[in-house]
Amino acid sequence: MSAFPRYADLSMRLSDEPDPAWRVHQLATDRVAAGEDIIVLSIGEPDAPPPPAVLAEIEASIARGRTRYAAARGEDAVVHAICAYAARDAGRPITPDMVNFFPGAQTAMFGMLMTLVGPGDRLILPEPFYAPYTQVLRASGVAVDHVPLRPEDGFHPRVEEIRAAVRPETRAVVLTHPHNPTGAMLGKDELAAIAAVCRDHDLWLVADEVYGEFAYGGEYTSILALEGFEDRVVSLGTLSKSYAMTGFRHGWSIAPPALAARAGVLLEAMLFGCVQFIQDAGAVALADGGAFPRAERDKYLRRLDRVMAELEGSTAILPRRPEAGMFVMIDIRPTGLEAEDFALRLLDAERVSVLPTHTFGPSGAGHVRISLGMDDELLVEAARRIRRFADALA
Ligand SMILES: Cc1ncc(COP(=O)(O)O)c(C=O)c1O
Repeated sequence: MSAFPRYADLSMRLSDEPDPAWRVHQLATDRVAAGEDIIVLSIGEPDAPPPPAVLAEIEASIARGRTRYAAARGEDAVVHAICAYAARDAGRPITPDMVNFFPGAQTAMFGMLMTLVGPGDRLILPEPFYAPYTQVLRASGVAVDHVPLRPEDGFHPRVEEIRAAVRPETRAVVLTHPHNPTGAMLGKDELAAIAAVCRDHDLWLVADEVYGEFAYGGEYTSILALEGFEDRVVSLGTLSKSYAMTGFRHGWSIAPPALAARAGVLLEAMLFGCVQFIQDAGAVALADGGAFPRAERDKYLRRLDRVMAELEGSTAILPRRPEAGMFVMIDIRPTGLEAEDFALRLLDAERVSVLPTHTFGPSGAGHVRISLGMDDELLVEAARRIRRFADALA
């Protein structure tokens, strides 16, 4: 006898267990809700409010009646704004037929994977990787082959390992570039070498590029800028981090036109258009020519320098200066503790919440991640407490 109710395979592939990646963060936020004074560095949320012009545009747009059904693949104004924005990184024209508006990069990853891969297919994904993508991968039914990002390589992938991981069923290589949680940013040559693997084996190269605005020294190269690979690269973007607009759910994909059109069909089926006034607000944000993200980057860099100054010199922990992004990885292996144990004990002893990264993939073991999205003084105070706690262990 069959058991009822019965759900679709796609639904049953999703886990309904709480994601272990957020265990410490959840504990910390529960304790904050209960009135405890904790410095929470375990989530990647910018502390800045969105640009004032964006907030003003929300009101103005609603007043103009922009509260109706919208074009399935994105409204003209925002699509053109995304084209202009992405063209700067791409160094080539990005045309509206390459763009799909998605409510956030998370959904863009979902839509693109559902368009590109399914059960029976495989893809290659370096680990550790951004934990919320686990469920997206499960939903698609794709099998995942991981390649390790090792601390001793600065968490850069070894291209020969990507090549060796390709199998007959492999359809895509998926990168987060710059990387969360590790802060690694690949150079143009590394990206081109990975793209060459994709070309040789006829794979898509998909990159989540949501931290592209926050590079600390080196030059950021988008996969859109790789010459000769225009027909196989898919870049995902968002205003969540760059314009501190996480709750707006404003993201996009840029892909070769034929693929973009396929993904657009899925968008129409699934979303039937996204909120008009949110898209208008996004167009206003992007019209600043990147001024807001540049200021955010400068702020994060200032904080990064201060955090590094507090943590460097400890013999118990090793802070790893990120090349980009909004996080700092701290190698806590010299303390002899597992990362989760370290995080839990730190939370109790010093009331600072950090994220153990082993749940982002085994190569993240022995490290915790802290966010730079926190007021300068609180962040420095948290760094002091982390060091005090670690040094006392040693
Ligand atoms: C690597 C990465 N991709 C995507 C997202 C989510 O982006 P969005 O808010 O646009 O869905 C995050 C948020 O932390 C992230 O770190």
